[in-house]
Amino acid sequence: MTDNGQVFHINTRGISPTTAPVVLPEESERRAQEIIKQYPQARSAIMPLLYITQEHFGLITQAGVDWVAQKLSMPPVQVWEVATFYTMYYKKPVGRYHIQVCRTLPCALRGARKVSEFLHRHLGLAPGEVSKDGLWSFEEVECLGSCGTAPMCQINDVFFENLSEEKLTALLARIEKEKPDLRFSTVRDELGAGLSGCPKSEII
Ligand code: FES
Repeated sequence: MTDNGQVFHINTRGISPTTAPVVLPEESERRAQEIIKQYPQARSAIMPLLYITQEHFGLITQAGVDWVAQKLSMPPVQVWEVATFYTMYYKKPVGRYHIQVCRTLPCALRGARKVSEFLHRHLGLAPGEVSKDGLWSFEEVECLGSCGTAPMCQINDVFFENLSEEKLTALLARIEKEKPDLRFSTVRDELGAGLSGCPKSEII
C-alpha cells in the first residue's frame, strides 16, 4: 500500500490472466517477431519492443507495456521497471519535437543551465511542458553519453552538440521551417529525414 492509500498488486509470476491480448499493426507485429528471433532469450528484446510501442502510441502506455509483456512472456511490472528507468521512453505526452537537455556534470560545467534557460525563454516552456501548438516540449535528463561534445541535447532521436545560444536559435528556426523527421523508426529500422545539408553537430 502506498502513502496515499492506493493498493497495487504486483504480479511477479506471469502475465495477468485478466489482461486482454494487445495487437499492433501487422508491420509492428512482424518487426517484433524479427527482433525477438535475434536474441537467445526473448526477454532481451524488451528495449526495442518498447520503442515499437512508443512509436505506435506516441508514448509508453499500459496497453503498450501489456503488448511487450505478452510478446516476451514476462510480467508487465518488469516491463514498467525498464520503461521508467530510461528517459528515452516517454511516460507522458511530448511535443512533435521533444528536446532533452543533458544536465549532468560535464554538460553542466560547459553551460547546460544556459541551454535550459534559453529554451525556457525562447519556447516559453518549463521542463515537462508541451507547447500549445504541440510542436515543442523539453525536459532535463541525465548523461546522454556525449560528454565530449558538451553541452548537448537530443531532439527526438538525434543529438545536437557543442551548443550555444546562436546554434540553438538557428536550429529551432530550421526545425520550425523544415519540419524534419528526427525520429528513429524501430519498425522501419531507419532514422527519418533530418535537416537537409545540415550535419547534426554543425548547425551554424
Ligand atoms: S554529461 Fe552530458 S552527455 Fe554526458
